[in-house]
Amino acid sequence: MTPAEKLHIHHEKLIGTIRDLAERAKSDNAEASLLITFCSEYLISHAEAEEVTLYKASTDAAFVESMIHEHREIKDILEAIGSAYGKGNSAGIVSETEEFITLLDKHFGEEENALMPGLTKELSREELEGLVQEAHQVEAEKKKSDLWSLFEHDHKRIDFNISRLRKSAGSPEAANGIYSKVRAQLLKHIELEEAVLFPAFSEHAEPAQTGPVQVMIAEHREITSILVTAGNPVDGNSLGQNIDALIGRLAVHNKKEELILYPMINRALRTPDRVKIFKECFEGMAAV
Ligand SMILES: [Fe+2]
Ligand SMILES: [Fe+2]
Ligand SMILES: [Fe+2]
Ligand SMILES: [Fe+2]
Repeated sequence: MTPAEKLHIHHEKLIGTIRDLAERAKSDNAEASLLITFCSEYLISHAEAEEVTLYKASTDAAFVESMIHEHREIKDILEAIGSAYGKGNSAGIVSETEEFITLLDKHFGEEENALMPGLTKELSREELEGLVQEAHQVEAEKKKSDLWSLFEHDHKRIDFNISRLRKSAGSPEAANGIYSKVRAQLLKHIELEEAVLFPAFSEHAEPAQTGPVQVMIAEHREITSILVTAGNPVDGNSLGQNIDALIGRLAVHNKKEELILYPMINRALRTPDRVKIFKECFEGMAAV
């Protein structure tokens, strides 16, 4: 496989997942959290790696400058999606996401149709192969695998759906649909914390640091006891009380995780462990 083909395959994988997540975000705005999380982990590290390897080797300074500018635009649109998401601005999420995909398609096309052919002419095959290999390594090092922000984004996704649930209280059918989503996402989130995140942390933490984990697990039991049993429809009355209790418990619980536990977990785990956990937990979250 030539270095250009390797880059093409890598791009195809990235853009394939990003397109799926973008479609998901457009049809269900709460899911924009997955798009943002995926891109901040896998796309930003890719762009940063290119700048210090492939871009640096090119002799076409003006072209490289325009490509680096596009990387900045990619980051800016990603931030704009995040800000529309934070404001619950559906139209903003949809239009920014569309713009994002258009720019990415253009950008990847330029790399494959202009950058790589140029480099193929300027460098020997061995040199270019070495460069792509280096890009790959730098990309792996640049990944943040920030478990704190991964789980915090999942909190936001669940909060987004809970606020929808509140608005849908007048329509039992819609309310039940959203309720089962909230239920599934919340149970998955708790499962990932208890089966993946917390055990990995407990293994590497000082014994004195694991107290908060026990408190969080006890709070999970209180939170799940509020949830209506799966398959049982929720009527307007029970739903109202349910949502208020859930919002109250989750607000306190999530704050503690975000302010105390997640930062501790990020610090305690080594990068290779965080890379692995990030992937597993992201896939688990995307499955519900
Ligand atoms: Fe790029
Ligand atoms: Fe690229
Ligand atoms: Fe939790
Ligand atoms: Fe959590």
